[in-house]
Amino acid sequence: MSTHNTTNESGEMYSASETIIELRNTEVVFDMSRGVSRVLDNVDLDIRRGEILGVVGESGSGKSMLASAMLDAVVDPGILSGQITYYPDDGDPVNVLGLSDEELRRLRWEDISMVFQGAMSSFNPTMSVKGHFVETLEAHEYDREEGMERAHELLSDLYLDPERVLESYPHELSGGMRQRALIALSVVLEPDLLVMDEPTAALDLLMQRSILSLLEGLKEKYDLTMVFITHDLPLVAELANRMAVMYAFELVEKGSTDEILQNAAHPYTRALLNSTPNLDAPLSEMTSIEGSAPDPVNVPEGCSYHPRCPLADEQCVAEAPDFHDVSSSHQVECFHWEDAAEAIPFNIEQPSSPEEGEAR
Ligand SMILES: Nc1ncnc2c1ncn2[C@@H]1O[C@H](COP(=O)(O)OP(=O)(O)OP(=O)(O)O)[C@@H](O)[C@H]1O
Ligand code: SF4
Ligand SMILES: [Mg+2]
Repeated sequence: MSTHNTTNESGEMYSASETIIELRNTEVVFDMSRGVSRVLDNVDLDIRRGEILGVVGESGSGKSMLASAMLDAVVDPGILSGQITYYPDDGDPVNVLGLSDEELRRLRWEDISMVFQGAMSSFNPTMSVKGHFVETLEAHEYDREEGMERAHELLSDLYLDPERVLESYPHELSGGMRQRALIALSVVLEPDLLVMDEPTAALDLLMQRSILSLLEGLKEKYDLTMVFITHDLPLVAELANRMAVMYAFELVEKGSTDEILQNAAHPYTRALLNSTPNLDAPLSEMTSIEGSAPDPVNVPEGCSYHPRCPLADEQCVAEAPDFHDVSSSHQVECFHWEDAAEAIPFNIEQPSSPEEGEAR
């Protein structure tokens, strides 16, 4: 495992042998006819080896942009800047934005694998599931026999009948089966890190839950680090060790799942938790957060949440807040985080964390 010194998100020096990917000042801009659209704004994030990180935020907040940035996969004409470093478990750190196309192609499946949003529909309808596995293995010169053995094992780990699924065409599988086949495909080349963008969005609640528990098993067995991106904070809270909350193209709160659920310090995170009380709640109980998500060409000055924030004052309108430490494992970008809990009480008991869930 590589060990090197670096500064963490709070600017402290530490040994980063536990970091698998590190983003610093990561930005994406699109030059639009109506102005510059900053769709990822100065993101600093460390993903730690072996963790499940949940990235949450409402639609349009920049979650998919963050995922694309991690793999230098931002679509043209978007301009990505900043430093993105991948730390393999053996070997030297990799400057992701300095890679050649071929190096990037390898990194993308063999080290860091991504299940893109809506990827279920990207299955080629005229190719069997087996064809998809074979194509992926061949494109990466991976031993076919060994690869197909791994495919079988992965599919059965995901409670699918490997023979049947491999022979099927995508349309012959249910949504939940197709999604599991896609997850198996994305880890067949033994990546260290799996990034999933809304992998359960098209599934019903029961299937969402069962996919989550399957992912947990997969992570343990294959020693994966996972990033799970969703607009549904309570959904991923059961799975993630740590959460990062996005608002208006930036991260506004980062912390252990426990701390975020029990003591969310950003007014937006508290509103987000209140808007989706728990996994079993009927849709009618969900409240939406007042106001609308900002337009990337016209992000409000000062704290970008101020037009929607019940705690906003003159300072919030004039200045952008920096991150403050709520604890050593919990940071928030808000001037008045100490007042957030009182001003925005939770309207229902928050879901339990994975650890608590086990203890019960
Ligand atoms: N190709 C593009 N050109 C210009 N702007 C884009 C492009 N793709 C996305 N955006 C803008 O970037 C911003 C962030 O989008 P992104 O897709 O990352 O949001 P998201 O959080 O993933 O939303 P959702 O939950 O709906 O998937 C949005 O304002 C979106 O309109
Ligand atoms: S900085 Fe001000 S406007 Fe922004 S979230 Fe905190 S209290 Fe609200
Ligand atoms: Mg998205």
